[in-house]
Amino acid sequence: MIEPDPSAPVSAGEAPSDVPPAGSPAGEAADGTADGGLASFGYRDVPKAEKAGLVRDVFESVAPRYDLMNDLMSGGVHRLWKNALIDVVNPRPGEKLLDVAGGTGDIAFRLLRRVEEKGGEGAAADVTVCDINAAMLGMGRDRAINRGLLRGLTWTTGDAEKLPFPDRSFDAYTIAFGLRNVTDIDLALGEAFRVLKPGGRYYCLEFSKVTSAPVGRVYDAYSERALPFFGRIVARDAESYRYLHESIRRFPSQRDLAARLGRAGFTQVAWRNMTLGVVALHSGWRI
Ligand SMILES: C[S@@+](CC[C@H](N)C(=O)[O-])C[C@H]1O[C@@H](n2cnc3c(N)ncnc32)[C@H](O)[C@@H]1O
Repeated sequence: MIEPDPSAPVSAGEAPSDVPPAGSPAGEAADGTADGGLASFGYRDVPKAEKAGLVRDVFESVAPRYDLMNDLMSGGVHRLWKNALIDVVNPRPGEKLLDVAGGTGDIAFRLLRRVEEKGGEGAAADVTVCDINAAMLGMGRDRAINRGLLRGLTWTTGDAEKLPFPDRSFDAYTIAFGLRNVTDIDLALGEAFRVLKPGGRYYCLEFSKVTSAPVGRVYDAYSERALPFFGRIVARDAESYRYLHESIRRFPSQRDLAARLGRAGFTQVAWRNMTLGVVALHSGWRI
């Protein structure tokens, strides 16, 4: 895999990928979600009211092996993508930071560490991790205790579509590999806008559309087979990992997601592809 270049800026209007994912399922809406009162759950369309529960079951099941599986499935590259996100967020002491769909804390720990590097030991870090799934947060809390990360972190159970925070309360919002799991992406973007202070920054790291058709086909074949295979062997749960593969295929393209950020009110919306668009980092400002 190609490593992201953390020094490369996230630039507005970066050449988007128009290459569709190989073999997009028939009947899929252009925005990667299902029509009407339905939401996409993998390749199935389910009533919107059911999706959050199904997603919760997936992460309940994968939580104990989640971190090991991330390393196995990505060959460790997810660490580089996450480090690149932190470089771009560039968190500073004194800022209030929110990591939504924060799961087992990978992004929050990195934010905390970066603030401490900047301000020295004891620098005032303030990172809130919010996730809909208590099992994932529980794994995160255990990891934090094991690492001696006791200050500057708040763990909150909550839905990205209905965040339990007041308006205009954070300087930066991150969501990594979480947005494709929410039922209504536009609601989640609206909530992100609401809780950011004017001048606040939004960042979304998510699987996206590969920019090279041949590489896309290889990647797609790999993820279609490898994710359920590792899921079966390591987590004893092939189905949940099949869902992850399918949810990646149905997520909106770089260009579509950027347009939706704009509609949610963000300005200076931009994205940057990593590993040929396997992952994209979108950003925007609330002015
Ligand atoms: C693939 S994990 C990503 C975890 C972490 N951000 C990381 O990068 O390692 C996706 C996370 O999204 C959470 N999630 C799914 N739907 C959510 C929602 N509507 N609101 C908040 N979190 C949600 C899941 O519980 C899970 O922890």
